Order: sequence, then structure tokens, then C-alpha cells
Amino acid sequence: MPDAIVAEGLVKRYGQLVALDGLDLAVPEGTVTALLGPNGAGKTTTVRVLTTLLIPDEGSATVAGIDVLRDPQALRSRIGASGQYAAVDEYLTGFENLEMVGRLYHLGTQRSKERARELLDRFRLSDAADRPVKGYSGGMRRRLDLAGALVANPPVLFLDEPTTGLDPRARLDLWDVIEELVAGGTTLLLTTQYMDEADRLADSIAVIDHGKVIARGTADELKAIVGGDRIELTVATADQLGPAQQALAGLADGEIHLEPGLRRVTVPVANGSQDLVTAIGLLSEQKVQINDVALRRPSLDDVFLTLTGHEAEELVNGDAEAQTVGATEGQKR
Ligand SMILES: Nc1ncnc2c1ncn2[C@@H]1O[C@H](COP(=O)(O)OP(=O)(O)OP(=O)(O)O)[C@@H](O)[C@H]1O
Ligand SMILES: [Mg+2]
Repeated sequence: MPDAIVAEGLVKRYGQLVALDGLDLAVPEGTVTALLGPNGAGKTTTVRVLTTLLIPDEGSATVAGIDVLRDPQALRSRIGASGQYAAVDEYLTGFENLEMVGRLYHLGTQRSKERARELLDRFRLSDAADRPVKGYSGGMRRRLDLAGALVANPPVLFLDEPTTGLDPRARLDLWDVIEELVAGGTTLLLTTQYMDEADRLADSIAVIDHGKVIARGTADELKAIVGGDRIELTVATADQLGPAQQALAGLADGEIHLEPGLRRVTVPVANGSQDLVTAIGLLSEQKVQINDVALRRPSLDDVFLTLTGHEAEELVNGDAEAQTVGATEGQKR
């Protein structure tokens, strides 16, 4: 599968501040990549460079086979983009906004009107279609802006934090729309701070921090960086902590962690739910009283914290290259 989006060595400086620090990225055609990173990581800057809105100081990029820096005009008609802040005309109605986008993309008057109606319907904005946007709520503007990105059915789509500010239902709606588009062959680069969103939508996740990709892989591959499953249990009384630890010492795949204040015992395990069953057996044999027990799998939140928090320093520093996490590479750390 050829890459629909390629960025190589992107650098963008604002005075002393390095917003992009040699960012590399490749998104295969027809797939979804999520850029995941904390505030100020460089997500919006990356999207702005790739959508021709910002010229980088160094590096190169190709989108849909077109050189972003050499041929920005040609590229603009091949991509759709929705920014972090909705870019809609306040004084036009929702319908007029979308119709205008259609005409900018040379869809023709008739088709522009049809497409505007279709998208207003899809984003549940039909009722507000003929009202000026200045009376729209934040979430409505956001949806209108997203609809605008889809008017021309672009083969490559960039969505910067598409669901920030949407209510849960609008968020689920948008996920559906995105999944349909991707099933139809659209390539998507989206940025997000929501792990569940990256988990649900993205084929591949690039974690970025300080203007660089610090890890990439599927959600499962990234979770494996943090480690395997663990059993978390809460004992009934603090004096049960020791007996619980003893009972499970043989089962643990690593060090058992005790949090006396919470009466919590965390046990890393190698065999998931099978070990959970064994653990419950061992605890009841030793007459340890427990209030709660669960198998916990690492979440993308754990990955995010591990990679961008303090622990990430050892993992990432001294290794200028991002780690590409592959199924064949060692992942237990
Ligand atoms: N026009 C600008 N002038 C000066 N600094 C800028 C400008 N645009 C971005 N920056 C800086 O570049 C860095 C990256 O910003 P960017 O907007 O790409 O981050 P982000 O990952 O999108 O963050 P967020 O999650 O808050 O949207 C930040 O430190 C930001 O302050
Ligand atoms: Mg941003």
C-alpha cells in the first residue's frame, strides 16, 4: 500500500521554541493514523504543515502524491481539513457555509446544494440549516466545520481534535461517519487527546511529544510497552495485605506492589484471566478476605503517561529515533 501522507524531518521553530523537531510520519493509503500527544506537543503544527497552511523551516512532505511545499495549490483541492477551532462564516447560515465550500471546490451549484443538505442531515444540523452560524453553539459550529471538510469527498482528510467540544452523542455520530469514510477508502490523519478515540479509530498511533514522534504502533503494540496484565485486588482489612502478598508470590510475574492506604495489592501476571482464577483460589485457600478483585489490562492512558511522563525519559532519551513497536520486537520492559 503506498503512503498517502509522508513527512520527513519536519522542523518548525518559533524563535527559540522548537515546535517540530525532526518529525517523521507515514500514513498508508486507506488507513487511519492518530497523532496522540499532550498540549503543545506539535499536533496542530504538524497538521498545518501538511495542509499547506504553514511552511516548515526544514524537511519535506508529500500528501496524495503531491509535494506539499512545491505544489500547495494543487494539493488543496485534494484534501479536506478541519482545524482545532471551527472556521465557519458567522454571518452565513449553516447551509450557505457548506454550499460555499462546495462552490470553492467547483462542485457546481446543484451538486453543492445537494451535498450541503446531505451533510447537514448527517451531522444532525438540518433544523438549524437556515439560521446564521453566529447563533450556533460551540458543538454545532464544530460539526458544521467537520461537515465542511467532507464536502468534496477528499481522498485524504486531516482532522485536528475532531471530537473536542462535542457531546457524547455527537462524538459517537462522528466516529460512525469516520468509520464509513475509511471503509470507502479515505486516508485519515487525526489528532486527539482521547485514548479511547485513538483506540477505536486508528490503525496506527503516533505518540508525539516535543515535536517528535516518540513511539508508534497499533494500540495493542503500544500497550505492550507498558507491560502486561495485572491483577488488582482490595483486601478487607490492612492486616490482610501481608497474607495476600504471600498467597500470590508464586503466581506473580514480577514484583507485587502494595498500597496500604488503599488496601490494594497489584500483581503482574503472565496468563491473564487464567491467573485471575488461580489467584482467587489461592486467596480463598489462605482465607484472605477480599472486597474487590479485577484483571486490569494496560490502557492507552497508561501508555501515554509512561511515554510522556517521567518514566519515558529512560525509554526515549539517548535514542534519537522513535521506537517502532512491531509485533516481532521485544516489548516487555
Ligand atoms: N504561531 C505560533 N507562535 C509561537 N509559538 C507557537 C505558534 N504556534 C504554535 N506554537 C508553539 O508550538 C508548540 C506546538 O504547538 P501545537 O499547537 O502544534 O501543539 P498541539 O500539540 O496542537 O497542542 P494542543 O493539544 O494544545 O492543541 C507549542 O509550544 C506552541 O506554543
Ligand atoms: Mg492543537
